[in-house]
Amino acid sequence: MKKVTTSTLLKMKQENTKITALTAYDASFAKLFDEQGIEVLLIGDSLGMVLKGDDDTLSVTLEEVSYHTRSVKKGVERAFVVADMPFMSYSTPEEAYLNAAQLMRAGASMVKLEGGSWLLDTIKGLTERSVPVCGHLGLTPQSVHVFGGFKVQGRDDLQAENILEQAKQLEQAGIQLLVLECIPSDLADKISQSLSIPVIGIGAGAQTDGQILVMHDMFGISANYMPKFSKNYLQHSNDMREAVSQYIQEVQDGRFPSDEHSFN
Ligand code: KIV
Repeated sequence: MKKVTTSTLLKMKQENTKITALTAYDASFAKLFDEQGIEVLLIGDSLGMVLKGDDDTLSVTLEEVSYHTRSVKKGVERAFVVADMPFMSYSTPEEAYLNAAQLMRAGASMVKLEGGSWLLDTIKGLTERSVPVCGHLGLTPQSVHVFGGFKVQGRDDLQAENILEQAKQLEQAGIQLLVLECIPSDLADKISQSLSIPVIGIGAGAQTDGQILVMHDMFGISANYMPKFSKNYLQHSNDMREAVSQYIQEVQDGRFPSDEHSFN
């Protein structure tokens, strides 16, 4: 059993091996996902919606993400652990340094920030201070009220060009992983091909270097709602381990996501 590191993920991209990722919030599920072979576990601020029952992620605090990161870390032997920096916890570089340190001490091996050009100094500063960073572009849920809802991003040419440009800038600033959420598949494909770092998609088509899903969506238990880009892997199985293994298999052989789970 070899631990997954940033080098593992980079090598997977270079060798065209798909990366599988899921969100996790506690030790038991983290252990189950880890044992099935998931490479990346994200303590997402989606916890605001799927654990707390909120309508968005904005109420999530640093203490909450730290608490769940400590729990997840205890269940993991192999997977790479990434923790989300909550809304307004990285609005200045100095704030970001202190808050990222708290998540790294809780057990994260990388922190994820939502946004583009305005984060370049913060990303450079974090990486210089030995904190690996994951970027997040497209439908960034912390900006839901700016977008006017959870809407697909990058559909017009100008927006698409802007997202591609920001992805390049983030890579230049030092991110080692990028999440693309809810953007057209061909744009995600173009971005994945333009960057040397691994790109993980959610609602971004099948051509990214890997896929991530919110665990509650993957088990089909999100309250009253199944996003178009997700799939209920418990629909044809009553075994959680089997469902996770099926998800891994379908991502690896390119069957998930299909067109039905993608945007254009
Ligand atoms: O918070 C989260 O779970 C996320 C994923 C949707 C990528 O950011």
